[in-house]
Amino acid sequence: MPVLDYEPLVLAPRAGAPAPLTPIQQEVLALKRQRNAVILAHNYQVEAIQQVADYVGDSLGLSYQAQAAQADVILFCGVHFMAETAKIVNPGRTVLLPDLAAGCSLSDSCPAERLAAYRAAHPEVYVVAYINCSAGEKALSDVICTSGNAVKIVRRVPADREILFVPDQNLGQWVAQQTGRPMRLWPGSCYAHVQFTVRALEKVRAKFPHAPVVAHPECVQAVRDLADEVCSTELMVKFAKETPANEIIVLTESGMLHRLRREVPTKTFIAGPTDTCACNDCRFMKMNTIEKVRDALQNLSPVIEVPEPTRTAALVPIQRMLDWSKG
Ligand code: 13P
Ligand code: SF4
Repeated sequence: MPVLDYEPLVLAPRAGAPAPLTPIQQEVLALKRQRNAVILAHNYQVEAIQQVADYVGDSLGLSYQAQAAQADVILFCGVHFMAETAKIVNPGRTVLLPDLAAGCSLSDSCPAERLAAYRAAHPEVYVVAYINCSAGEKALSDVICTSGNAVKIVRRVPADREILFVPDQNLGQWVAQQTGRPMRLWPGSCYAHVQFTVRALEKVRAKFPHAPVVAHPECVQAVRDLADEVCSTELMVKFAKETPANEIIVLTESGMLHRLRREVPTKTFIAGPTDTCACNDCRFMKMNTIEKVRDALQNLSPVIEVPEPTRTAALVPIQRMLDWSKG
């Protein structure tokens, strides 16, 4: 397997007007009107999907958008736990996910049965669950958080309670460092973000010595320690707008570069590299394609369903997060 044998992926400032929509993108927009649908897309979706979405953002922004949606149909372009969250907060809508197999390694690393067993053995813990988990796991948690609000949420947890943070040990470790609050960490991780390494970052930094590095908190500590900013995907947009630098190295999934380039068209974005590749795709996020988006609107399928007892139990910690996050 080649190691560090590639040129960095560099997205230079975009010149001129964006390319016109393709026939299939226009078909999607026509179907969207016909179905009275809203398209919510995560920052990691392919560019063709981001271009037709009504809203593109991080998990937190998407949760608020899903809760406020008035359309009959929410077509959620992201991964399964995100679409499930949309159904939990807005059960009256039909929620579609273009590919039901679009899961998440973090979510898989903490099955609800194992969390239930842990809780039964340790009833004293206060469970803070990263939103990247299943509805069943959310239903067993005390409060949910996203990378965008995790520090704020953990600061609101009663001081006399011991926190169990699930399922991402890297985000949990970062939040513990930011808040000074010790926490038990579930040993889960994002298979994509842990592929960013110090040596790959150093290689790309040697070519762009003046470019600040922005990293997602799902990266391992050695990589986070080299970053100028550690934040959610939404806050990466803010960072890119505010930094005086014109070149920025972005350590997260490669779809983020499309969002950054659209919102900050005058700057250059360099994809965070791994040891074997110049950029880093999440194989789950990339299961959604513009063709599957079209088919989902045409067939009103695949539909996301959450059993009502699980939904009502999972809504409690999600709503707590949405309330604490605003306050
Ligand atoms: P954000 O909420 O920061 O967009 O993160 C979601 C995610 O899945 C990161 O891998
Ligand atoms: Fe899950 Fe990682 Fe993909 Fe985000 S990037 S959806 S955490 S597998």
